[in-house]
Amino acid sequence: MKNGAQTLRVACLGAGYFAQFHYDAWRRNDRIKLVGACDRDQEKAKATGLAAFSSLDTMLKMARPDLLDVITPPHTHLEAITLAIANGVRIIICQKPFCGSLAEAKEAVKRTDEAGATLVIHENFRFQPWYRTFKQAIDSGLLGNVLQLTFRLRTGDGQGPDAYLDRQPYFQTMPKLLIHETGVHWIDTFRYLLGDPEAVYADLRRLNPVIEGEDAGYFVFDYKNGVRALFDGNRLLDHAADNCRTTLGEAIVEGTEGTLTLCGDGSVRLRNFGSLKESTLLEAKTWQGFGGDCVKALIDHVVDGVLDGKPLENRARDYLRVIAIERAIYESDRVGRKIWEFADA
Ligand SMILES: NC(=O)c1ccc[n+]([C@@H]2O[C@H](COP(=O)([O-])OP(=O)(O)OC[C@H]3O[C@@H](n4cnc5c(N)ncnc54)[C@H](O)[C@@H]3O)[C@@H](O)[C@H]2O)c1
Repeated sequence: MKNGAQTLRVACLGAGYFAQFHYDAWRRNDRIKLVGACDRDQEKAKATGLAAFSSLDTMLKMARPDLLDVITPPHTHLEAITLAIANGVRIIICQKPFCGSLAEAKEAVKRTDEAGATLVIHENFRFQPWYRTFKQAIDSGLLGNVLQLTFRLRTGDGQGPDAYLDRQPYFQTMPKLLIHETGVHWIDTFRYLLGDPEAVYADLRRLNPVIEGEDAGYFVFDYKNGVRALFDGNRLLDHAADNCRTTLGEAIVEGTEGTLTLCGDGSVRLRNFGSLKESTLLEAKTWQGFGGDCVKALIDHVVDGVLDGKPLENRARDYLRVIAIERAIYESDRVGRKIWEFADA
């Protein structure tokens, strides 16, 4: 867009559980003005304290936002994006999982491209401060040759008949849960840290019989030069943290000259090869917002990118690859072998 003096008019679609972190983050950005909130449940929209709407079309026409933030479930995305473009919105941020299918996601990308609009996926985990620290350490050569990366998801919220009901009850009935809803963040984060894999293998399972989808499982990314990245998720187990939702688990990156560890308090530690001593690269602290304030980091990145003309991460076209890899993970689990081809993305 233009230069730093401009203020973006921002409207949001969705006022459910996760939207609270978006509204809070937008309120802390002084380069934007919030002009409306829409939810099909107008009471929820009103509770945001903003001009409240139950019809997206009406909000777009009356509030005239430059940017629409879509914080509703996947089946609503294509319609919302299409309506936004038709009403002249030029920047759209859309929550993950992006659209109801790969075909819909491609259609959304095509329509925004044709309209000359910008579509960014709200894939926030790569913006968590600990992964920014990982990335700098890997890229600076601090670890020597990185040989492997592991993330162990241990949310501890998946046991018993009441699993997920207090926060995200829809988890119980999702036919695909662990990877599609949550593990997808590490498909993207692994790509952010190490690049695109050339093959994936997965082994998924359902442990809690009251839910429909899978709640535990592994996926492994193969990279050229022998590097491997392992996602090891189990929603029934926890990890050592005061709040298991800060990092959702623990990570370790291992290189020929050093090992990085992400702890459940959000701290990142480095141990040099051959040494017992650890140094702290990122201190634990109490972060505002969600997961190291990553929602705000993503939102600020988009606002600064748009207003200052800087390149944007998480463009929707690039994110199609994440959806293709997710499909390959489920396919690998179904057929019981490694998948090399990530169809048409
Ligand atoms: N990136 C993350 O870290 C993260 C975390 C949690 C949830 N999410 C994603 O955010 C999205 C929303 O999740 P949530 O937990 O807030 O769900 P939720 O069910 O709590 O809220 C969804 C809201 O959307 C509204 N809504 C649904 N369809 C609508 C429509 N057609 N028009 C207007 N409003 C509509 C509902 O009334 C509800 O208030 C999901 O896609 C979820 O996967 C992302």
